[in-house]
Amino acid sequence: MKFFIDTANLEQIKEAEDMGILDGVTTNPSLMAKEGITGTDNILKHYVKICNLVEGDVSAEVIATDFEGMVREGEALADLHDQIVVKLPMIKDGIKACKYFSDKGIKTNVTLVFSAGQALLAAKAGATYVSPFIGRLDDISTDGLNLIAEIRQIYDNYAFETQILAASVRHTMHVIDCAKLGADVMTGPLSSIEGLLKHPLTDIGLAKFLEDYKKGN
Ligand code: G3P
Repeated sequence: MKFFIDTANLEQIKEAEDMGILDGVTTNPSLMAKEGITGTDNILKHYVKICNLVEGDVSAEVIATDFEGMVREGEALADLHDQIVVKLPMIKDGIKACKYFSDKGIKTNVTLVFSAGQALLAAKAGATYVSPFIGRLDDISTDGLNLIAEIRQIYDNYAFETQILAASVRHTMHVIDCAKLGADVMTGPLSSIEGLLKHPLTDIGLAKFLEDYKKGN
């Protein structure tokens, strides 16, 4: 299972990268705005900074919602760095643009996916990644993890190569449940990754080992 970090915060990206377990980064316009990165030039420069910090795929989202605009923006994003994955919204023109980019060998991530039918369309269009938003489904009393299971079944039935990128992951149990269900990738905040480290018995056990070592030395 690949671990992506879902942020545009360079310190947090570096922190996860330094652990040696990071496989990539996802961003979106809201995450960029949260870091105060505004204006096309600054946003493009920030993507390059992220690519220079990590080794894996970096999803960069288009703002246009029409096919021509998405193609124009997506091509400019893909030209920035070979780690860039063009992130496209799950709308009709987004699917059309996904097919366009996949035919050209440019990696894509179809985002804002909330149903198995949408995920099926993304796979048909040759998406590299599909991003079902599990946390946002949970927010409206719908089982986000069930969507991961449905997509896994559909993709396995037809050996679709599109990778299931569980997005809107909020906490460690989302990560573990996505791993159990066979999501190919998860993207979440640094806290959802660092939370996996924690167990009180680890802390108690380590304290005891160090205490016993000190007694004998
Ligand atoms: O990866 C999608 C993500 O950025 C959305 O997360 O927590 O805003 O639902 P959230």
